[in-house]
Amino acid sequence: MNVLVTGGAGYIGSHVVEELCKTGYKPIVYDNFSTGHIDAVSDDVQLIEGDIHDFSFLKHVIGEYEIDAVMHFAASSLVGESMVDPAKYYYNNVAGSLGILDAMRETGANLLVFSSTAAVYGEPDQVPITEDAKHAPTNVYGKTKLMIETMMADYASAYDLRYVALRYFNAAGAALLGNIGEDHNPETHLLPLIFKAALGERKDIAIFGTDYPTPDGTCLRDYIHVCDLATAHVLALKYLAEGGLSKAYNLGTEHGFSVREIIAAVKKITGKDFAVREEARRAGDPAKLIASSEKIKKELHWEPKHSSIEDIVASAWRWHSTHPNGYAK
Ligand code: UFG
Repeated sequence: MNVLVTGGAGYIGSHVVEELCKTGYKPIVYDNFSTGHIDAVSDDVQLIEGDIHDFSFLKHVIGEYEIDAVMHFAASSLVGESMVDPAKYYYNNVAGSLGILDAMRETGANLLVFSSTAAVYGEPDQVPITEDAKHAPTNVYGKTKLMIETMMADYASAYDLRYVALRYFNAAGAALLGNIGEDHNPETHLLPLIFKAALGERKDIAIFGTDYPTPDGTCLRDYIHVCDLATAHVLALKYLAEGGLSKAYNLGTEHGFSVREIIAAVKKITGKDFAVREEARRAGDPAKLIASSEKIKKELHWEPKHSSIEDIVASAWRWHSTHPNGYAK
């Protein structure tokens, strides 16, 4: 089965591409390298430099490579940036995804696995969050992903499209072989920033907010290993290929770790000490984001295997300590 992977050179996309190869699918990576990295894609994977806004090229590639299914990761994904530059997010995420949907409709590729986010829920009324919780995103990034889910649902009702939307909680960790990992510029995520402090590239790590209604006052997040996200994508694709109907699933571990707990885990596993600074809350951060992943466990028999905090930190540390400059040579 030939699978077009938009954004396949990005953090999550590249790990999914490895899993597709391992499980006998043929990924064709489509990436404009605005944030992705050529070296995140193995030499034996077909790699096409292209933009999701280039509608005619996208359609040409879908036809030329006899694409059966699309996995769509290509997107802008920084919450803070989405608030100050919403135009970029509506263009790249909403308009870009509309192009993908229309290219699929016009070429007959009708199976889509979509990279969605816990940000579609906003501040939850209760945790763990189930898929039918209210959708009230608190930032533009989450709004755009929710709009895309709405478009996919309408296209699925009207046209020959079936999709699975996977709503990730906090993706973390790196490939177990240590060959690929997380490399964002600028980096804003907690774990990679802590590793930079552990490597001495930053003088400290800041905790954003210590007065949340949580046991230690810092935010709780549900960290899920990127390799466990990868297996969920392949299960979702298999489900669609076997005739499954359109669905949305959460991907998390049903367990929240506080910012302080994550810092302590990194100190313990790396054996490195570094300074920790307490700062005011970061705007828009919910106190607790914890997934219920019962639905995908029950329906697709997904089980996270690498998402203990020890495995997440150890795999990410292997990547960051051996690639202190990320993919840059
Ligand atoms: N944090 C700090 N200090 C830092 C960076 C982050 O204390 O230097 C805190 C944040 O305030 C938050 C937690 O660490 O409480 C995790 O922050 P991240 O920026 O790593 O991740 P987010 O939870 O904000 O966002 C992630 C993804 C989003 C996605 C969201 C959905 O990056 O794309 O999860 O839950 F929308």
